[in-house]
Amino acid sequence: MATERTFSIIKPDATRRNLVGKITARLEEAGLRVIAQRRIHMTQTQAEAFYGVHRERPFFRDLVTFMTSGPVVVQVLEGEDAVAKNRAVMGATDPKKAEPGTIRAEFAESIEANSVHGSDSAENAAAEIAFFFAGVDIVG
Ligand code: TYD
Repeated sequence: MATERTFSIIKPDATRRNLVGKITARLEEAGLRVIAQRRIHMTQTQAEAFYGVHRERPFFRDLVTFMTSGPVVVQVLEGEDAVAKNRAVMGATDPKKAEPGTIRAEFAESIEANSVHGSDSAENAAAEIAFFFAGVDIVG
C-alpha cells in the first residue's frame, strides 16, 4: 500500500472536553501524520454542504446543529493505507458498537456526538481535503 492521505475532524463534543491532544496522539500512534490542521467553527452552510450526502436522512438536521455547536479541528492525515487505518482507529459510528481501544469506544458520547470524522474512501478524502484546505497549506 502506498502512502495515502485522508481527512479527519475532531468534533465539537471532543473540543469541548479538551480532547484534541489525546485524540491526535491516538492518530499518531496508529501511524498517521498530521500534515495540515486548523481549528474552525463550521457555519451552517459548510456543515450542510459537507454532510450533503446525508441530506435526506432523519438525523441530518440534528447532525448539522451538532457540528456547528462548537469549534472543530480539521486535519489532513498521511500514512500507509491512511483511509483504512484512520477508520480502524476511529471505531464504529455508534460508540456502543465500537471495538474497545478505538477513539469512539473510549471518548464518544453518543452516535451523534462521536468525537471524530474520517473519510470512508480515498475519493471522498480528496474531495473533503479540498473542501477545507488549499494545497499550499498541506505540508507533507
Ligand atoms: P456515517 O457516515 O454513517 O458514519 P461515520 O461518521 O462513521 O462515517 O454518518 C455520519 C455522521 O452522522 C456520524 O458520524 C454521526 C451522524 N449519525 C447520526 O447522528 N445518527 C445516525 O443514526 C447515523 C448513522 C449517523
